[in-house]
Amino acid sequence: MSEVLIKTDFLGKDYVTGEVTVNALKEVNLSVEKGKFVVIIGPSGCGKTTLLNLIGGIDRPSEGSITVGAKVITNMSEKELTGFRKEDIGFIFQFYNLIPALNALENVELSARLKFPKDAYERSLEMLKRVGLEEKINKYPSQLSGGEQQRVAIARALAKEPKVVLADEPTGNLDSKTGKAIINLMLDICRNQKTTFLIVTHDVSISELADQIVHLQDGQVIKTSAIF
Ligand SMILES: Nc1ncnc2c1ncn2[C@@H]1O[C@H](COP(=O)(O)OP(=O)(O)O)[C@@H](O)[C@H]1O
Ligand SMILES: [Mg+2]
Repeated sequence: MSEVLIKTDFLGKDYVTGEVTVNALKEVNLSVEKGKFVVIIGPSGCGKTTLLNLIGGIDRPSEGSITVGAKVITNMSEKELTGFRKEDIGFIFQFYNLIPALNALENVELSARLKFPKDAYERSLEMLKRVGLEEKINKYPSQLSGGEQQRVAIARALAKEPKVVLADEPTGNLDSKTGKAIINLMLDICRNQKTTFLIVTHDVSISELADQIVHLQDGQVIKTSAIF
């Protein structure tokens, strides 16, 4: 039996700026099984980043609820939500967001230490090997190519063994060949570690690899294709 890991019920998000309210998400009902490679697609401004931020506990919904594993994150206090992000969620961003003053290993270690303080170093080294950067662990972000920086970011996200990896346009700043290698790496990790991936992308070739495609438009899920 497959296990549902992420569930949203009538999820809604309004951004209120002065007198203007943007209805960024409306009644989003989503169900994602553990270990799946899920792609979220849709035009710019349709609410993709908002959806990832809500599931990752970076922001709070205006309506509805979100369950991740056994946790209803919508009911959590700020402290509990911080713990949830630390333990359960790995983030990957379009512009990598590595800390420039730390080398590759230190960037990964900083994240690993949040959950595995005792063996953060060993785990980080192992993850950097896993993403093919064994030789570059002492390099700083400015000494690495875009693809290499994104590999460090993947290692950083995975070093704490999160339940869910949320990737917001992870190949948006890479050439198509490098982007493909990054996606294949994430898919490989998804299959081997049974980590659940939610990936926002404009790239149709990525959606061809997905187990499930969530089509967003104007803040609503217009279609969910499950390819099991
Ligand atoms: N912090 C914010 N304050 C006000 N409006 C926002 C904010 N973040 C996003 N929005 C608006 O919400 C809508 C959805 O944005 P977003 O989730 O970033 O879309 P996408 O990632 O699909 O491009 C857009 O209209 C955007 O302008
Ligand atoms: Mg976005």
